[in-house]
Amino acid sequence: MVHHLGLTDLHATSQSQQWFARAKKVLAGGISSSARASTTGPLPYPLYIARGEKSHVWDVDDHEFIDYLLSYGSAILGHADGGLVATVRQQLDRGTMFGTCNTVEVELAEQICSMVPGAELVRYANSGSEAISGAIRAARGFTGRNRILKFEGHYHGWVDVLAISNRPTSGDAGPLDHPHSSPHSRGIPGGVSEDVIIAPWNHKQLIEHLLNEHGTELAAIILEPIVANNACIMPEAGLLSWLREQCDKRGILLIYDEIVTGFRLTRGGAAEYFGVTPDLNIFSKAVGGGFPISAFAGRREIMEQVGANIVKHGGTYNGNPLCSAAALYTLRKLNEPGMLENIHSHGQTCMEAIRRAANDAGVACVVQGVGSMFQVVFNEDGQPLQHYRDLLKVNTQRYAAFRHSLLMQGVHVNSSGSACWFVSAAHSAEDMEFTTQAIDRAMKSVR
Ligand SMILES: Cc1ncc(COP(=O)(O)O)c(C=O)c1O
Repeated sequence: MVHHLGLTDLHATSQSQQWFARAKKVLAGGISSSARASTTGPLPYPLYIARGEKSHVWDVDDHEFIDYLLSYGSAILGHADGGLVATVRQQLDRGTMFGTCNTVEVELAEQICSMVPGAELVRYANSGSEAISGAIRAARGFTGRNRILKFEGHYHGWVDVLAISNRPTSGDAGPLDHPHSSPHSRGIPGGVSEDVIIAPWNHKQLIEHLLNEHGTELAAIILEPIVANNACIMPEAGLLSWLREQCDKRGILLIYDEIVTGFRLTRGGAAEYFGVTPDLNIFSKAVGGGFPISAFAGRREIMEQVGANIVKHGGTYNGNPLCSAAALYTLRKLNEPGMLENIHSHGQTCMEAIRRAANDAGVACVVQGVGSMFQVVFNEDGQPLQHYRDLLKVNTQRYAAFRHSLLMQGVHVNSSGSACWFVSAAHSAEDMEFTTQAIDRAMKSVR
């Protein structure tokens, strides 16, 4: 029985407040990643989560929440999954890292290749950003070209290589037909932005112009197949197959950043879901079931350059037995019949609940994504967003009010309306019933 979830009083989060005051004295900004600069409703400190079990988390003041953040989708089996914990515990007893070859990394690569279309050879890293760097180097090494085309608003990690036009202001973004390559941060050298061509998502005509201009210089086109970092904007029908044709015609590699969609959308990720296979594919988050591991994989002839050490790739912790064991367990579970279908079906229940509640309350919004990852956007016309610039027009206060009401009622979602809700295999029908009722009440607070 789900009961007593959420916060009776916002100020009952005093332990979080105290921890944040302590954190600010020793952690830069009080946080460990810029994405965690969130608040507890209107209160200016983040919620400190102390523990998790299945689909629920508890904060340091012992408030319980149903969790739809799930470490940005990583904890796809839910928190502290019994089988995953037992697997990792067994590996802990055997040792965690040897800096040598190990059998688990081989079994995991076999599992990945068996599930993902186009994954012929694999290399591991430890975070999404690292695996992106590896894949981009492989693409540049293979093609002998330097420039990369990325889409405005798509997020490919924080490291220099692609931290360009992640979230430009309308002032920095430039004209839609020639978006500026706008560094995401101070400290990124100018040469990096020069090598990154920015295109508007879902805009074939403008993309084609940019390809005509830069096609012969491009090593790769990289994209988030569903733009998890832009409130789950979907690719318009035929876009991915058209990009595939353009890449083939122009000798450009197609790279999917499947750090969010991989092993979540389907067993074979976006390549399987959309029926269009990229040359290289990048995974993290769900693959580790909550453990830090990432991988890039793809066509044999490209990855063989990495194998032959022509394109260098290294890393002390790559393929370590601890995280590989966690990932192998997670992928075997996700490969079981019905697992992903169940996750999608619960997520669709939430998506429908938001649409129904919005309709009943007369609130304009659009719910976009697929069951296991989705977001609601409070835009005026209720039409699906096409590209990043549509997000800049959205009323973010409405999402803040919606999220605050959900938090008070015990539903924990991403504090950013540009990100996603994630559903795990541990979410239950009871969670859905509770969440649906909370959504109904929260929608009434959106004005
Ligand atoms: C689509 C996508 N690519 C890359 C990354 C970077 O991964 P990491 O934070 O593990 O470096 C993220 C992280 O949120 C992501 O969502």
